[in-house]
Amino acid sequence: MKKHKILVIGAGGQLGSELTQGLWNLYGKENVIATDIKDPQGILTQGNFEILDVLKQKHLFEFIQKNAITQVYHLAAVLSATGEKNPKFAWHLNMDGLIHVLDAAVEFKLDKVYWPSSIAAFGPTTPKKNTPQDTIMDPTTIYGITKQAGERWCHWYYHKMGVDVRSLRYPGLIGYKTKPGGGTTDYAVDIYFKALSDKKFECFLKPDTYLPMMYMDDAVKATLDLMEASSEKIKERSSYNISSMSFCPSEIAEEIKKHIPEFEITYNPDFRQAIADSWPQSIDDSKARLDWGWNHRFGLKEMTREILTNLPVYESLTAQ
Ligand code: SER
Repeated sequence: MKKHKILVIGAGGQLGSELTQGLWNLYGKENVIATDIKDPQGILTQGNFEILDVLKQKHLFEFIQKNAITQVYHLAAVLSATGEKNPKFAWHLNMDGLIHVLDAAVEFKLDKVYWPSSIAAFGPTTPKKNTPQDTIMDPTTIYGITKQAGERWCHWYYHKMGVDVRSLRYPGLIGYKTKPGGGTTDYAVDIYFKALSDKKFECFLKPDTYLPMMYMDDAVKATLDLMEASSEKIKERSSYNISSMSFCPSEIAEEIKKHIPEFEITYNPDFRQAIADSWPQSIDDSKARLDWGWNHRFGLKEMTREILTNLPVYESLTAQ
């Protein structure tokens, strides 16, 4: 049987820490190396972990060779809100990091590469409801521009260089095991923390701002399902639309109130409102469902119950 050795780059982030655990379950802890530019926190301390900066190409190549890596999950990126504050660095990290990984895939004949795209690759003239797989893409944030360009690089490396690179256009990802990391959709993570600690939350988006969202367990499942599918099933070599739910701040607040009746939300929109307004409200992911059998498990109700039940337990465990 072929031996797998998986490298996760940017494992300390919101998605990375949970995806790493999914990979442990699938491939065994000993076959997964989690890396980041910062020391590991929480659960990541329980597996293989090394410091790795994807921008240091020589080190990356040596690392891949030395550890006989066969698959890379490349997650290190600057998100939408942070990217607007430091656009040149966002371009540098998001683009050069990806190209370093894709070049390594050619050099070391990696089996597969995973790279996340985002709903941020769409823009103000993209159809907002049920956004199709193939449509207008006119991103207005630097983050979105790097995602759109990255999709084209993935497509190019697959067709011209034979790299089996796969990608999903994630909606806003919501989990409770790591704090938000500079995204526009992150209000929907923060709101649960504040609902439990303060019973109130000030939202930086307007009450009726609909955005596509996904619970972290579904995001991990989608990623692993995509990566486990046989290559001929992957017909989309830029990135797949993927979806599970869509809601606005007033709806998530209502759902939280069912569990915490005294919870109150107030609204104070900032620059992130314009970013949210440029993105789709809901996504048509029928191609992912058809090509490799994508199916989600969590809606707003199930996710809210799950987070409000588990977050206090998780916090008390990690505080020890
Ligand atoms: N969650 C991301 C952000 O808000 C979008 O991919 O930046």
